[in-house]
Amino acid sequence: MAPEKTFYLETFGCQMNVHDSEKVVGTLISQGYRQVESVEEAGLVLYNTCSIRDKAEQKVFHRLADFRKLERQGKKFGVLGCVAQQEGEKIFDRAPHVSLVCGSASYRNLPEMLVQLEAGKRAAGLDDRQTTETFETEFTARSNPHRGYITIIEGCDKFCAFCVVPYTRGRERSRTSESILAEARQMAGSGYTEVQLLGQNVNSYHDPLKKKTFSELLAAVGEIAGLKRVRFTTSHPIDFTRDIVDAIDAVPALCDHVHLPVQSGSTRVLGAMQREYTRDDYLERIAWMKAARREISITTDIIVGFPGETEVEFEDTLSLLDAVCYDGTFSFKYSPRPNTPAQTMADSIPEEAKSRRLAILQEHQKEIQKHLSKRHLGQILEVMVEGTNPTRGQLIGRTSQNKTLNFTAAAGNPEPAPGSYVRVHVTASFPNSLLGEMVG
Ligand code: SAH
Ligand code: SF4
Ligand code: F3S
Repeated sequence: MAPEKTFYLETFGCQMNVHDSEKVVGTLISQGYRQVESVEEAGLVLYNTCSIRDKAEQKVFHRLADFRKLERQGKKFGVLGCVAQQEGEKIFDRAPHVSLVCGSASYRNLPEMLVQLEAGKRAAGLDDRQTTETFETEFTARSNPHRGYITIIEGCDKFCAFCVVPYTRGRERSRTSESILAEARQMAGSGYTEVQLLGQNVNSYHDPLKKKTFSELLAAVGEIAGLKRVRFTTSHPIDFTRDIVDAIDAVPALCDHVHLPVQSGSTRVLGAMQREYTRDDYLERIAWMKAARREISITTDIIVGFPGETEVEFEDTLSLLDAVCYDGTFSFKYSPRPNTPAQTMADSIPEEAKSRRLAILQEHQKEIQKHLSKRHLGQILEVMVEGTNPTRGQLIGRTSQNKTLNFTAAAGNPEPAPGSYVRVHVTASFPNSLLGEMVG
């Protein structure tokens, strides 16, 4: 009997990577592999990597160094994802025990690459930004039975000055609305109640069949029987049109949360970043959302210390936080990335200044959230139960606005199961979560 084929997969990076990993796992299982929980048990060790900032990129090289000696036991190592695409075959020189390098635009070819690996050869799947196909597979191994991801658009053609994604994910390409709707219906049929539509710029979606705009696609997914919650991320301000807000107003299943990365509150810096919108353009989109019938929770991404950012321009970002009142922000120090135009820009900001700006920004935002979060006190919100926190004797729920609402079950009632929806009375608020009691 042939020895059993086993693999271990660790994933870094964004939701697109997490979902790619679900498809890679499904593909490997369909090729006769079994997934194991530790490097030690595995014949094939895979890392699905992220390269968005330098720290993320370094993680995979640390992992590879840690496990290098295991190669002598006959284990094989593979690097997938954004670092794989960025570094290409150079990875074989830097980490000679690696025998598979595959970028995200080449996962369709994984079955053939596995055959090469099994024959003792090295395999590389790299994209030259020519790929027009998306990775669709019937073998997706989703890790959560209640909510799942659906990629609707891959790649990016925007080329912001700081960002590696256009180089690591290939050109922008959308799936047909028909195949997306078929996947969503099939998920609803097998018990999913929440789907999250994914894309680097999800709202840049262009149906190759020209049947549906992005907002029409959102509405169509939101109307599928059985789906209670539909989310979408990440939206790019340039392609954020008013009809998206209209769709949220019209279709109750569309969640009242929009993640709209701004990056900077200074129009000058936005220009240098090649974001192609101004502070006022961005605030116009915020005004559409604030005028919606349902209150929409708004979150964002921010970069501090982009080359040339002055103190005054940084303060423009602080004042934007006040103008928008975000429910949450992800903020980062600018990290120079290979191949990008910003890498060679003059006036780089010293590390201490970046750290100071980041700390000021995060403190400022925390105060805003502390205040904003109070508006939920006394409300009764529906949550999807995500799990339990036994040490605190609490259940963990998520609201439609994507907030964590920890709660205690009603006395005498059975504990609600993960995936179920219950109503919770909010009794305390914190900057990053809410606390409450289940309603009867
Ligand atoms: N497509 C999305 C962003 C995807 S990348 C958009 O355009 O809005 C996720 C986030 O990582 C970005 O919003 C940005 O805030 C951050 N990021 C990207 N490149 C970065 C870099 N070089 N340094 C620091 N943060 C970066
Ligand atoms: Fe990166 Fe800009 Fe594309 Fe977003 S839009 S993924 S920040 S290049
Ligand atoms: Fe990272 Fe690639 Fe996502 S660089 S953030 S894993 S697209």
